[in-house]
Amino acid sequence: MAKEETIALKISHISKQYPGVKALDDVSLEIRRGEVHALMGENGAGKSTLIKIVAGAVSPDSGEIFVGDTRIEAMTAKRSKELGIAVIYQELLMIPALTAAENVFLGTKVTQGGLVNHREMEQRAAAIFEELGVHIEPGARVSSLSTAYQQMIEIARALVKNAKILIMDEPSAMLTEDEVETMFQVIARLKAAGVTVIYISHRLEEVFHISDRISILRDGRYITTLETDKTNKAELIHYMVGRELHQTFPPRPPLPERLPVRLEVCRFTGNGVNIDNSCGHPVDISYATFE
Ligand SMILES: Nc1ncnc2c1ncn2[C@@H]1O[C@H](COP(=O)(O)OP(=O)(O)O)[C@@H](O)[C@H]1O
Ligand SMILES: [Mg+2]
Repeated sequence: MAKEETIALKISHISKQYPGVKALDDVSLEIRRGEVHALMGENGAGKSTLIKIVAGAVSPDSGEIFVGDTRIEAMTAKRSKELGIAVIYQELLMIPALTAAENVFLGTKVTQGGLVNHREMEQRAAAIFEELGVHIEPGARVSSLSTAYQQMIEIARALVKNAKILIMDEPSAMLTEDEVETMFQVIARLKAAGVTVIYISHRLEEVFHISDRISILRDGRYITTLETDKTNKAELIHYMVGRELHQTFPPRPPLPERLPVRLEVCRFTGNGVNIDNSCGHPVDISYATFE
């Protein structure tokens, strides 16, 4: 198989400047067909901006995107969808008053003589839920379903639209541990079905659990891509923060438990440290708790 045929998505020299911050600086990255590719980096690293560009929601200042072998001149949301790219953002797109099945088919008409055929819609939704291995009643109102189920409905919606590349932006942020486990099982099924998954996270445990390869962004720059089974947490932290935490700070007594540590910084410079994290964005350094 020619090399190009194995690449589902190629991001080439993408840059994006926002007022006061270079969100992406000459980022190039290749996603292989059928892999689960984790995209990692601290808050503000540029992960969401990159996928919004792939989704056609944000225009880059420069750079190119290739889907398969096709160079996409100007990615728009419509084009991105047509090319089989689906993004599941943290803010789920649901109409709570409608049923699970109706939400699966939002934007996809299942019509019969101009009327929506509810029976077929529910049957097809049930089949997709079964394929995903999740127990959702197609006729249930979405308002009665957990966030995790609503996320599964979004995944089902992407499948109905024949998505080939599914991008999930920090999908675990709103889920309980058990729900994350279910989501991982769904991702495994998607992978088995040949879907390429880009999984954005800054949680180390998760990416080791779910991904084949890991790419790291830091301060808008592409740092590296690693095979998941050939790296470790210390190496990932090193690439994400750009220094060894334990070498920079004096040892601290262990925390009573792994409490999430949150640090909010705003243009902080001094003593070899230079953080320009646009004000108001907390930096999650929970992975920096001492193990
Ligand atoms: N619409 C926007 N306007 C201005 N700055 C933005 C906008 N979106 C993102 N940024 C900035 O770009 C940088 C990258 O943000 P983002 O892509 O959201 O990072 P991540 O998803 O890795 O946390 C951050 O400094 C962020 O504040
Ligand atoms: Mg983000």
